[in-house]
Amino acid sequence: NKPALDQCYNLLDFEAVAKRVMKKTAWAYYSSGADDEITLRDNHSAFHRIWFRPKILVDVEKVDMSTTMLGTKTSIPFYVTATALGKLGHPEGEVVLTKGAAKHNVIQMIPTLASCSFDEICDAKSGDQIQWLQLYVNKNREITRKIVCHAEKRGCTALFITVDAPQLGRREKDMRSKFEDNGSSVQNDNGDSMDRSQGAARAISSFIDPSLSWKDIPWFKSITNMKIVLKGVQRVEDIIKACEAGVDGVVLSNHGGRQLDTAPSGIEILAAAMPVLRERGLENKIEVYIDGGIRRASDIVKALCLGAKGVGIGRPFLYAMSAYGLAGVDRAMQLLKDEMEMNMRLIGAPTIADLEESMVDTRAVALH
Ligand code: FNR
Repeated sequence: NKPALDQCYNLLDFEAVAKRVMKKTAWAYYSSGADDEITLRDNHSAFHRIWFRPKILVDVEKVDMSTTMLGTKTSIPFYVTATALGKLGHPEGEVVLTKGAAKHNVIQMIPTLASCSFDEICDAKSGDQIQWLQLYVNKNREITRKIVCHAEKRGCTALFITVDAPQLGRREKDMRSKFEDNGSSVQNDNGDSMDRSQGAARAISSFIDPSLSWKDIPWFKSITNMKIVLKGVQRVEDIIKACEAGVDGVVLSNHGGRQLDTAPSGIEILAAAMPVLRERGLENKIEVYIDGGIRRASDIVKALCLGAKGVGIGRPFLYAMSAYGLAGVDRAMQLLKDEMEMNMRLIGAPTIADLEESMVDTRAVALH
């Protein structure tokens, strides 16, 4: 008793269906944010504070939304970001996202804490589909080194080191519902049995190294040729440090509102940061991505106008997968592509390169 798939007209529709049909524990894990969920709620609403300033009488008969991200071509400037525990939502887990991404020539970031094994997710890719690796850094660096080198060998082209989670945030909805293992095998402390009394997030994350620091970045550069991106940057000073450290990119992100509550949204950090980077001549030294709360192609367009190279999308694909499997992920991506084409036409930008800062009005944005 859920609506037919073609009754889902946008990404938010998938969320509403998923909430109805998903197991309570799975819904709690996917949907929760930290503490009072203020950041979680603001991630999407921050986009509503930005208004468009469309250009008229631009020839938009042909629209080309393809771009490059971290050196590879892609059909549209969003990627499927890393989200743990895919099997909570669908028995086949992350490979469903892999197949959906393949169909649309979209890049997928593989989470360290996937339910499927890393190799299963690589094996599921088709042709020259691009995958990236999201890394939680293990206290045991030898384990981390092996994960990174293996990912490079399997063809991953970029390494996203998550830097906003030295400790997992308190997601109380998730803690209340407790973690029931749903056939999800994930890395934990040396295979010890997991403490499930604190919810899914706590149960799987105790291996993460809270001592990770800027000093470790050269080591990552020494063990891999993959592009290196810091995921979870939240202030312009740290983008500048990332430039100095010689990394290839940053993701301005608050981890989907799941870490530090009242951390700012990626889009507002971006709006504040890009002028500073330009002033210092750094805007072309590093690729800047954002994630969090992107639910409409208009959100993507706003990020690109403000200087992002692309955006990551998390929960909407989890919800589409949980509610409708591969067909859901396929439709969610197609809806975004249709919205993107329409938005680019209506704003007067036939290509991604035509999206520029003058096309958005950010006066209502909070500059953090
Ligand atoms: C995440 N995110 C995440 N990030 C990361 O670096 N490693 C991880 O294992 C996870 N796991 C995870 C699970 C779930 C259920 C969610 C919702 C999110 C954060 C994710 O990569 C991204 O930053 C946010 O999901 C983006 O926000 P939206 O698109 O979900 O609003």
